[in-house]
Amino acid sequence: MSSLAGAARAGSVFRDDLFEGKVAFVTGGGSGICRGITEALMAHGADAVITSRSQERLDAAAGALAETTGRRCLGVACDVREPETVEQALDTALETFGRVDIVVNGAAGNFLAPAAQLSYNAFRTVVSIDTLGTYNVSRAAFDKALRAGGGVIVNISATLHYGATPLQPPAAAAKAAVDSMTRTLALEWGALGIRVVGVAPGPIAGTEGVDRLLPKHLKEKAEKQIPIRRMGRIDEIASVCVFLCSDAASLVTGETVVADGGAWLAGRSIGME
Ligand code: NAP
Ligand code: COA
Repeated sequence: MSSLAGAARAGSVFRDDLFEGKVAFVTGGGSGICRGITEALMAHGADAVITSRSQERLDAAAGALAETTGRRCLGVACDVREPETVEQALDTALETFGRVDIVVNGAAGNFLAPAAQLSYNAFRTVVSIDTLGTYNVSRAAFDKALRAGGGVIVNISATLHYGATPLQPPAAAAKAAVDSMTRTLALEWGALGIRVVGVAPGPIAGTEGVDRLLPKHLKEKAEKQIPIRRMGRIDEIASVCVFLCSDAASLVTGETVVADGGAWLAGRSIGME
């Protein structure tokens, strides 16, 4: 293992070989939070397949992740809205690595717009990526790998739907449905050794989500409203995922863990008022 692998694990409280011999399939793994999750899983021994629509972005990310962790990483383009492309990506993952043990559903779309200004297709687009995409990937991974071998599915959610979040009606509805799916699939697939869990991040600094959804002039105000007085970091969400994917969480299924520094408790639309 290269010395850079140590850097990727630096500060980790988890055992280095936690996921040795395991393979992770991460949608949205070429950027932002899910790239960070992939790096953390790899830094603890997993090989990984990352997917999104842009092969170019995936190739660059896969190369960098392999370099920093010393593990293998393959980028495979697919659109989570298209089950055939999802199945092809899983086939490629299985041909390359022989197994898939961990599935992270992180691919998502979002933008700010009032309900009255959304086209029908705009609403459908976000729900198709977040909700149908999560089902498509979970179902294909179940059929092709998890049904036989067990594993963990981690659905990346949000806290938008705990109260009501203006200007994000499709994403809030989509993530509410994802949380529901987390519970139902946990119930249906638990006996097969499959745990289905979720992580609901609050605002995470340096991500597309925050850049796109939190206007610059409101960032400082938002941070003052968060009980821990700062936004989250990508590595903090990654650590929650490492825990949930590990045997330390063997009793946890159907649950979505909020990791937001108390943000949603403090205000349903942090920064927006
Ligand atoms: P991001 O970097 O934009 O991640 C979204 C990813 O999804 C991108 O890699 C994108 O890649 C991929 N994607 C989009 N549409 C796709 C499709 N149809 N098929 C396959 N891949 C697709 O944003 P992020 O902020 O890190 O968000 C990551 C996750 O965390 C999301 O689930 C988001 O809802 C959640 N979250 C984020 C925050 C935050 O503060 N950032 C807060 C709460 C929840 P391509 O464009 O190349 O396809
Ligand atoms: N406000 C209102 N409507 C919007 C919009 C905005 N900011 N952005 C896109 N739309 C509408 C489009 O007009 C289109 O509707 P129409 O056909 O009726 O005109 C519909 O949404 C689909 O847009 P399109 O650009 O064709 O979709 P896409 O599949 O190429 O992209 C998005 C999906 C729109 C979600 C795009 O923002 C994206 O790719 N996001 C990924 C990254 C991301 O959102 N990260 C943050 C995660 S929290």
